[in-house]
Amino acid sequence: MFPSRAQLPQASRKGRRWRVAAVAATGLLVASILPTTGDAATTAAKSGWGQGTLTSSQLLSLVGQMTLSEEIGMVHGEGDPPNSAAATASCTASAVGCVGEAGWIPGVARLGIPPLRMTDGPAGVRLAHVETEMPAPVGLAASFDSAAAQQYGETVGQAGRATDQDVWLGPMVNEVNYPTGGRNFETLGEDPYLAGQIAAGEVTGAQSQGLITELKHFIENDFENGRSSTNVLIDDQTLHETEALAFQSAIQAGAGSVMCSYNRVNYVYGCGNSTTLGEVLREQLAFGGFVQSDWGAVHKTTDLVNGDDIEQSSGSNFSVTALTNAVQNGTPAVAATADYPAYPAISGAQWKQALDTAVYQILTTMNKADLLEGTQYGSHFTGAPTPWVPARADLASLQAGDAKAAESIAEDGATLLKNDDTVLPLAKADAKKGGLLVMGPTAVASYYGGGGSAHVTPYDGSVSPLTAIQATAGAANPVSYVPGYDLDGQLVPASALSAPDPAAGYPNWTLTSTDTGFAGKPGLLRQEITTASVASGAQPVLDLDPGATPDQLDGTVNYTGASTIPANTAFRWSGLLTAPANPGGTNWQLKVFVGNQTSSQLFVDGLATAQRRVSIGAYPKAPSSSYAGLSETARSHDPANPALQQASYSTTLTAGQQIHLDLRVVAGASPAQIQLRWVPPDNQAAAINQAVAAAKTAKKVVLFAYDDGQEGSDRGGSDQAAGLQLPGYQNDLIGAVAAANPNTVVVLNTGDAVLMPWASAVKGILEMWYPGQEGGTATANVLFGKVNPGGKLPITFPASATQQPMYDPNCTDTSATGNCPMYPGVVGPSPYVAGATTSYRTITGMSVNGIYEGYRWYDEHGVQPLFPFGYGLSYTSFSYSKLSIKGSASASGVDVTFTVTNTGSVKGSATPQVYIGPSPDLPGSVQQALRKLVGFSRITLAAGASQAVTLHINQQQLSSWADAANNWIVGTGDRTVYVGSDSRDPRVQKGFTLKS
Ligand code: BGC
Repeated sequence: MFPSRAQLPQASRKGRRWRVAAVAATGLLVASILPTTGDAATTAAKSGWGQGTLTSSQLLSLVGQMTLSEEIGMVHGEGDPPNSAAATASCTASAVGCVGEAGWIPGVARLGIPPLRMTDGPAGVRLAHVETEMPAPVGLAASFDSAAAQQYGETVGQAGRATDQDVWLGPMVNEVNYPTGGRNFETLGEDPYLAGQIAAGEVTGAQSQGLITELKHFIENDFENGRSSTNVLIDDQTLHETEALAFQSAIQAGAGSVMCSYNRVNYVYGCGNSTTLGEVLREQLAFGGFVQSDWGAVHKTTDLVNGDDIEQSSGSNFSVTALTNAVQNGTPAVAATADYPAYPAISGAQWKQALDTAVYQILTTMNKADLLEGTQYGSHFTGAPTPWVPARADLASLQAGDAKAAESIAEDGATLLKNDDTVLPLAKADAKKGGLLVMGPTAVASYYGGGGSAHVTPYDGSVSPLTAIQATAGAANPVSYVPGYDLDGQLVPASALSAPDPAAGYPNWTLTSTDTGFAGKPGLLRQEITTASVASGAQPVLDLDPGATPDQLDGTVNYTGASTIPANTAFRWSGLLTAPANPGGTNWQLKVFVGNQTSSQLFVDGLATAQRRVSIGAYPKAPSSSYAGLSETARSHDPANPALQQASYSTTLTAGQQIHLDLRVVAGASPAQIQLRWVPPDNQAAAINQAVAAAKTAKKVVLFAYDDGQEGSDRGGSDQAAGLQLPGYQNDLIGAVAAANPNTVVVLNTGDAVLMPWASAVKGILEMWYPGQEGGTATANVLFGKVNPGGKLPITFPASATQQPMYDPNCTDTSATGNCPMYPGVVGPSPYVAGATTSYRTITGMSVNGIYEGYRWYDEHGVQPLFPFGYGLSYTSFSYSKLSIKGSASASGVDVTFTVTNTGSVKGSATPQVYIGPSPDLPGSVQQALRKLVGFSRITLAAGASQAVTLHINQQQLSSWADAANNWIVGTGDRTVYVGSDSRDPRVQKGFTLKS
């Protein structure tokens, strides 16, 4: 029998002591990770997934039969052999493993244990070929619909299995905490109950198809800037009552694995943190599956002892050498560092126990997924162990059904924020005689999903919103389109560019003496950079390699047509851009257009501020190894270069202002194309003028706007005020068009909250999020009323950049960014120190926001948001009545019953939300929200119909985490239940006394 991790040497959070002392004192080196109730098969899973038949003793026996190197093979990632550079040349999309999955564990064929293939999520299955791109998870959360979540999971589950995958790296359960967080679109909103219910639905759905889900990123990875180093200081109550609660629901739904995070929590890295992985995840949340590191998030071999079972993406810390040495020789005591507490000596036997435990936990989950049936104990054993995997659906047969699911979930998430004078739904009559005008970039360049590891390359042939609107209006009512926005710009001219001066130095680049001759000349300095990294598919290394291609000066970066970047090379252009005076003002956009590249990146101002970048992965048929949000779907609209894709970077530049540029492209097996363009401010004015002129003659205008969420950087970098704005000059466009046409409707394709300085000037606002590959059709269906929107905001939209939880009111920063970011709910150095050395989120104090995240913060501080959490309109209206509350805490909770009536004239979905107020009986040291969400239900009612709804509030929801008790305690006494249509709109409320 193996010890639990809690009995292996590890850090204790409080006082950073080591448990090994206690363990040694009691002699408890052997304990059980096995069920205490006998040797039943581990497959009596609550969610009913999998048919694995192995008992825990049989799983232990399999571990016991492995050689040391086979065991080590199970705990560190490797490259799937068919995905190697050589093999992919002859790779077909249908070949097993030939699909570019994110991770691979080899298994042990000798024992009949198959490899584990892992695909990224959570917006679908992300592989080297096209797949159904589902709506971004934030849109799923906006559905407030557990059934939709289950359907989402089932869809991905089937597709994952059909593409030979075993583990889905999703859902992402981190909360929206930081309103400009780069991955907010990948998450399930700001409330842990909502996120937990939606995640649980996804887990149940995906695992019902046999695909193991992986909840990520444990824990508190709610931001992208500095994600690998930032230390999140968080108190116990906040930890338990916010994100951990969401993980808990998904774990209770049976999630098979958890990914530990890059960031540090209370000083210790997420994947080496025995408190979060041991005490919280294993003990308090009762997680029984395996833990896998985020890619590159393991820092030490001892992370294995501290609770991480697998190191991804490759094994330098959990390598054969490191772990063999540890098991054979033990490891000496290690002194404390900034990121790790001191470590006691660990004996070889203890290392072996830790390894056995990790492998056992992996096998436990594989068994549930039916993956061990080819072993000697399995139902498919044929006399000799042979890896066996369950039958997989044929991918092609899923495509049509998956598209339907993607469309209906995008419709479920559609959130109507404003609809004055019933400007929506549109009628065909609106489009008569050219009455309907569509504009804005994402009307034609569909925004499918955000960028980064969540990005799925969608099937070809999806329909843009404009095309879907035109089709719905019908040929007799032609709908016109005016961009309103210069989507393409023009080449940046040599006159604005100058080559770097080696003598003056250049960020992250030591120029060679041969480059001296170029200094200050017009254009950018071009160099070939190492191609070794090209072959491996990695990003180009920063090492200079003049190579066979001599350095040269390029007046413009324009490698298209006959002049291209040779296959299997990588180029880098560097230099200064000096902004000329422009009559249109100071808002500039830089654009990278590319084609056939493996990857491309534009760094602005040098790598030290790497968040200021745009990156484009490969498109359309290869995996995008890097970051690609709108960029991947935004195509060139330039008739001369229609096949290119593009990404933009917006910035303000005054006349004469200089910025460093660092542009790179990696060409794959065939030549790549690249252009560096810009959109000067006066182009913007021209585009707006054209839009305004057209808007004046239209009956209604539907204007599409977007934000650009992507992994790797928060929106606006460290500048929240900028990050909360729609990029580019979209606000100016909307303001001007709204002034020209009183019937303007804005359709938002954003992954999270944006400021809307024009909100009162427009008649309608429809938030469609990043709606996936069927988003165009879904958008048209909602606009024309084929579908009645019923989505609700899973996040609060602030009224201004300073009226939100992450703005520090004590800030005295007067620097250019002019804002004081905090993380999470924690004040940075105060007064805020611009450019503080380690990170602008350097934390000096404990939580000040505490449990008051999202809407709870707005309620606590009496701040009026632009749109509150839970908000969303319908084309009909609902009333709420007959609220009653029954039960007690000891009777496992209370039932809240009420009636909802559709008081309008069309069928629609209501989403009653139940909030509960604080308890008078809890100690003052326990933080309590004015209202916290404890229940919701999405119901569809015909016009005039009523339905009684009963929602159960369980004991934990009636409790708060009390640090003093190190546990949940019930909040008894007089409490209030609110039922309404959003967090600020309690339609009915009732007091009751909660008895213990
Ligand atoms: C991301 C994970 C992702 C992994 C594999 C990491 O950088 O944080 O969410 O699953 O890469 O692609």
